Amino acid sequence: MNQYVTGTVIKELREKNKMTQLQLADRLGVSDKTVSKWETGKGYPDITLLEPIAGAFKISVTELISGNTIKNANVSANMLRSKFYVCPVCGNVIHSMGEAAIQCHGILLSPLEAETSDEQHMIFTERIEDEYYVRIDHEMTKSHFISFMAAVSSDNIQMLKLYPEGNAEARFKIRGVKKIFFYCNRDGLFSQDIVKGIDDKESEYYYSDERKGLEETAKKLFG
Ligand SMILES: [Fe+2]
Repeated sequence: MNQYVTGTVIKELREKNKMTQLQLADRLGVSDKTVSKWETGKGYPDITLLEPIAGAFKISVTELISGNTIKNANVSANMLRSKFYVCPVCGNVIHSMGEAAIQCHGILLSPLEAETSDEQHMIFTERIEDEYYVRIDHEMTKSHFISFMAAVSSDNIQMLKLYPEGNAEARFKIRGVKKIFFYCNRDGLFSQDIVKGIDDKESEYYYSDERKGLEETAKKLFG
C-alpha cells in the first residue's frame, strides 16, 4: 500500500498526461530537477503540493495517494462488468460496479481477474423451476475451498458466502442471470457464462467435454 504519493505514480501520471518534467514543474512552481528527484525516489513532494499535483493530472488526492486512477467510465456501469475484491488476510469480499481504490487490512486490493472455469474448478448448472442450481466440483476443506458464488445479470447481483465443510452449491433466481462467478481461496476468481440451451435445461451435464460439445451445438442453434 502506498502511504504517500510515490515517484513511480507521479512519473506514470505525467507520461499518461503527455507532460514533460519541465511542464509539470512549471505548473507547480518548482524546478524540473525537483520533479526528477521525486520520480527517482530521491525526495517526496511537500504535502502542500498534493492538491496541485492531483489537479495537474485531473484526479483526486485519494487517487494520487492510492496510486489507483479511478476511471470515470463507471458512472452508469452495467452489473455484468462487476468487479470483486478479496482481502487476502481476512477473506472479506467487496463487490463494486466498477474499478475503485479499496483497502482492507491496510492492503490496497486489486480487482480480481476472472478466469474461465477449469478441470479443477468445474461448474455444473441446471434449472430447477425458476432457479438455477449451481454446483462447483471442488473440495471444501479449511485450507482450500470456494468462498463465495455470485450470479450476475445486467441490473442485479445475487451473492452467496460459502464456508469450509459446507457444500459448494447455490440456488439463484433465474431473472436474467448471464454470468456465474465463484472464488477459490487458493486459485482465485472464475466465471462462466450462462449458455442458453444448456444451463436452462432441467438436467446436468457430467463432464467438461460434454459441456464443450453442448456449447458448440448451442452456438449453432442460438448464435
Ligand atoms: Fe481451487
